[in-house]
Amino acid sequence: MPAPNDPSAPLAAPATPLPTAESCTLIIFGATGDLTRRKLIPALFRLACEGCLNEHFQVVGIGRQALTGDAFREHLRAGVAESPETRGFSDGADGADCAAEKWPAFASRLHYLQGDFADPDSHRRLAEFLNGRPQPAAANRLFYLATAPSAAPIIVRELARVGLNQEQQGWSRIVIEKPFGRDLASAHALNATVAEAFAERQVYRIDHYLGKETVQNLLFFRFANALFEPVWNRNHVKYVEITAAEPLGVGHRAGYYEEAGALRDMVANHLLQLLALTAMEAPASLDADVIRDKKIEVWRSIRPMTAEEVGRRTVRAQYAAGRIDDLPVPGYHAEQGVARDSRTETYAALELSIDNWRWAGVPFYLRTGKSLARQVTEITVHFQHAPVKLFPSAAAVESNSITLRIQPDEGISLAFGAKQPGVGKKAAAVSMDFCYRSAFAGEPPSAYAVLLLDAMRGDPTLFTRRDGVEAQWRLISPIEDAWAAQRDESLPSYAAGSDGPGAADALLSRKGHRWRPIADNVGMCRI
Ligand code: BG6
Repeated sequence: MPAPNDPSAPLAAPATPLPTAESCTLIIFGATGDLTRRKLIPALFRLACEGCLNEHFQVVGIGRQALTGDAFREHLRAGVAESPETRGFSDGADGADCAAEKWPAFASRLHYLQGDFADPDSHRRLAEFLNGRPQPAAANRLFYLATAPSAAPIIVRELARVGLNQEQQGWSRIVIEKPFGRDLASAHALNATVAEAFAERQVYRIDHYLGKETVQNLLFFRFANALFEPVWNRNHVKYVEITAAEPLGVGHRAGYYEEAGALRDMVANHLLQLLALTAMEAPASLDADVIRDKKIEVWRSIRPMTAEEVGRRTVRAQYAAGRIDDLPVPGYHAEQGVARDSRTETYAALELSIDNWRWAGVPFYLRTGKSLARQVTEITVHFQHAPVKLFPSAAAVESNSITLRIQPDEGISLAFGAKQPGVGKKAAAVSMDFCYRSAFAGEPPSAYAVLLLDAMRGDPTLFTRRDGVEAQWRLISPIEDAWAAQRDESLPSYAAGSDGPGAADALLSRKGHRWRPIADNVGMCRI
């Protein structure tokens, strides 16, 4: 072992090898859809390349299209080739293990069944197919609903009707994609339907943000270190901002997005999860329910907004035409599949207050939007100013802050003031940065790879519990309702490629707070 200060020692620590999953058959509803092709299959292929899939692992894809097994596999192969998850797929020349030569063996595990999720006969045929397969592969079943949210209740009922929810030979689990319902009432009803067919321990409500390495690191940052926790409260924190900005527009997902909007699509799940991990109390153990209880406590400590508060503490907007990376970008109304008079928001910002002892009085600002200047997902905790202004130029330093950069250029940065070299007493803003890429070797597995593996291994820690999704909707539904009631008010817009609408800046500036920039935010770890 090299001595601690040995200059020849590698700088980067290797990633921990992933564990191996139990044998199971993964049944994907929505198998010809975008999620399966772009995310699920590339993640599974990566797991296969890393030796994490059991030798009996199989996939059964169900979709409406009339496809042969070969055509299905070819469709998926193209998705894998395009995926960043499987870099090196084409030739393995860069030393990546996930080379194209491994595809045929993986592809032989992929099967296709043409079927309609609403058709009882499709489910009967699925049951026959699974029950007729050799035991080690088919005894354990993981159903994945990669379908439109409205399909979930029908599929759940049909699975139960043909007995596929039963656990006679092995386990049966179901993964349900977000958004889980479209408001509190529908989430409650869906939970009740699911509970009639599956016990809660069989249900995995997925939020892929929880599988991201940097999101999981929030717990480690806060609770594996003694340094930050003493200042992580209202006595030291001025405000917290959480941003998920994307340069991409609605793309070809208008059908879904028109119904969802930014609040349902991103805030109701991903951003509330980031908020909970930032604000929760320390769990007594790493038990899945102990951690989930702590997160739910945070959501329950937030008072749902009244209609008047929605007017004051939320902002929504739609992107207008603009330029991103010097290319012209159409406005939302000109996107394919979007109604010309659509009032769906593509940007949402809100101010939430957590009414508990740790956070009373500290605003938590959340914002997300499509067609913004660049991709930035980060959490910044802004601390109070020094109590006495000893250095006249300290204003240039602003206050201390910690930014946890979720993506891209993953890392953590501590901003503080330092003496500017030379004569005089001038302070300058500087930062101490930690970058994942230089600290740890190798590309981490994608969020979907992590979560699929967890579902196969029966670990629900990174999935949302029944009471969790309802606690999230309890906060979001009043905002949706108040927005729906403002039918006659015009919807603000922002230019594609900008930092978002001016109203979002005003949301913070009235308290003297300010968002971190999006366009000029290059991250601390850009290589
Ligand atoms: C999905 C949303 O859940 O998350 C998309 O439906 C969004 O609209 C995506 O683009 C963002 O995920 P990521 O991992 O790219 O930040």
